[in-house]
Amino acid sequence: APASAADIELAKQSTINKILKSGELRVGFDASYAPFEITDKNGRYIGFDIDLAKELAKAMGVKFVPVNTDFDGIIPSLLSNKFDVIISGMTLTQQRNLQIGFSNPYFLMGQGVMVSNKLQGKIARYKELNDPKYVVVSRLGTTGEEAVKKYLPKATYKSFEKEVDCGMEVIAGRADAFVFDIPALENIASVQGKGKVFVLNDPFTFEPMAIGYKQGDPDFANFLNNFIFQFKNDGRYQRLYDKWFRS
Ligand code: ARG
Repeated sequence: APASAADIELAKQSTINKILKSGELRVGFDASYAPFEITDKNGRYIGFDIDLAKELAKAMGVKFVPVNTDFDGIIPSLLSNKFDVIISGMTLTQQRNLQIGFSNPYFLMGQGVMVSNKLQGKIARYKELNDPKYVVVSRLGTTGEEAVKKYLPKATYKSFEKEVDCGMEVIAGRADAFVFDIPALENIASVQGKGKVFVLNDPFTFEPMAIGYKQGDPDFANFLNNFIFQFKNDGRYQRLYDKWFRS
């Protein structure tokens, strides 16, 4: 159907108006990334980002609507209006920031390495993996993949579709190391990898996580930045940090 005058008027408005009008905040994420977004045994989405998203919906007085989507296509999905924001452990990179807007950061982390126990005593620093004899894995389309290509160009690189697959490669001994976001590595190492892997958790990149939104919307940008400032400083950030990282 052709766009009505009302549709055209709505398209010109801030995302804020659309969210308030629909009464829904649609949040895009890929539930494969503990402890930020995962599916629990009852099929519910849980994690730090999910709680953050619920706080954002509450601050706007609307309903939180989760949209689980593949990380590799998450930016195109935002741009084609499948959801209003990305909250998915997404690193704010300069390259992504040319395509989408980012709020101020809500979490800081960096890349580390989960290493197979068979390399205990041999690998103490990530750079030592920069050798074709080592098989290094990461997830397609992530900053982990970018880090391997940039900092370990000589390693034998294999990419996988999901974080769990990367983790399993190292746990099962088929790969030597998994380069990825440290909080996610520590979770995999302590849950699935106990006794089989160790984590080099001295970050070798600097990665702020931020909320992604469609460019050209200064009102929404302003709202998100002020929401993050409030969330980080009024105790909510600390509560969520303790809930998801200290248990
Ligand atoms: N921080 C990394 C990146 O931005 C990985 C994020 C993966 N997120 C997820 N929900 N699976 O590329």
